[in-house]
Amino acid sequence: MGIGNQTTISDFLLLGFSEHPRQQPVLFVLFLGMYLVTMLGNLLIIVAIGSDQHLHTPMYFFLANLSFTETSFSCTIVPKVLVNIQTQDHTISYAGCFVQMYFFMALTLLDDFLLAVMAYDRYVAICLPLHYATIMHPQRCLLLVAASWLCAHLLAFSLTLLMSQFSFCASRSIPHFFCDVPPLLKLACSDIHNFQVTMLTEAVLSGTIPLTCVLVSYAHIICTILRIPSTGGKHKVFSTCGSHLSVLTLFYGTIFLVYFQPSSSYSADTGVVVSVIYTMVTPMLNPFIYSLRNRDMKGALWRLFGWGKCALHKGSFPD
Ligand SMILES: *[C@@H]1O[C@H](CO)[C@@H](O)[C@H](O)[C@H]1NC(C)=O
Repeated sequence: MGIGNQTTISDFLLLGFSEHPRQQPVLFVLFLGMYLVTMLGNLLIIVAIGSDQHLHTPMYFFLANLSFTETSFSCTIVPKVLVNIQTQDHTISYAGCFVQMYFFMALTLLDDFLLAVMAYDRYVAICLPLHYATIMHPQRCLLLVAASWLCAHLLAFSLTLLMSQFSFCASRSIPHFFCDVPPLLKLACSDIHNFQVTMLTEAVLSGTIPLTCVLVSYAHIICTILRIPSTGGKHKVFSTCGSHLSVLTLFYGTIFLVYFQPSSSYSADTGVVVSVIYTMVTPMLNPFIYSLRNRDMKGALWRLFGWGKCALHKGSFPD
């Protein structure tokens, strides 16, 4: 098989964890646990925000969107991993591989854009508090979310379309646990130059524009906070950014670890470990970061479970 290069490949093998046969049951339980926590935590955030009038503000709508993105992100990666481990059958169909890659890219980009939108929201709330209601009115919020969706899907679609023209004749084994771009590129035997140029351009644009937005927003926020005389006031204003900053750090930190390590030092094993952190641990931590550190979110969760009376005294901001 695979001698003539006319052979069209109809499926791939995802060999990410296949080298550790004895650890497979442990990995299965670990990944299943993280998956369930991710789904439950993020869905709980969405329901809590949707059902609580106090949280019908732009910041929480964006957070609900972020949670929804994380939930979908987990769904595109983890169930397939679990099935592959459980059945010891590592195949993924050609179409399945491309669909997975498409959603992986689109949802990563969407995360990236939403985090930038959330930084802008914090900037307006802290630096232009008197204009907050006029700047972040519902239509504007919807527009920001819709634009993020559109951009993320267009960028992911263009890359997926380009890649679907490749022929893969070298091998059908992907040394990874999902269909990510770099390992697939290694299997292509077409000319990948155009693709690489497009991908680099898109990566630079979708990396620098949102990151610049984040940095500029936070530079303004820090300037504003430094001008507040009292320490208590500083702390109170900054506390609304704490959760967002933690999620930002986690997101950009792991992306840099995954995609910006020198390719010479790239070992399949560390690559897999960092990818597990990126695809399974990060989405799981989001709800914890937001609900444990945030009084309003905690109050909403309490009310959701019908312990509303106890949560009343926790109060909510009049805005
Ligand atoms: C996403 O954000 C929009 C705009 O603020 C909001 O109307 C919508 O309900 C949010 N989606 C989710 C799933 O919360």
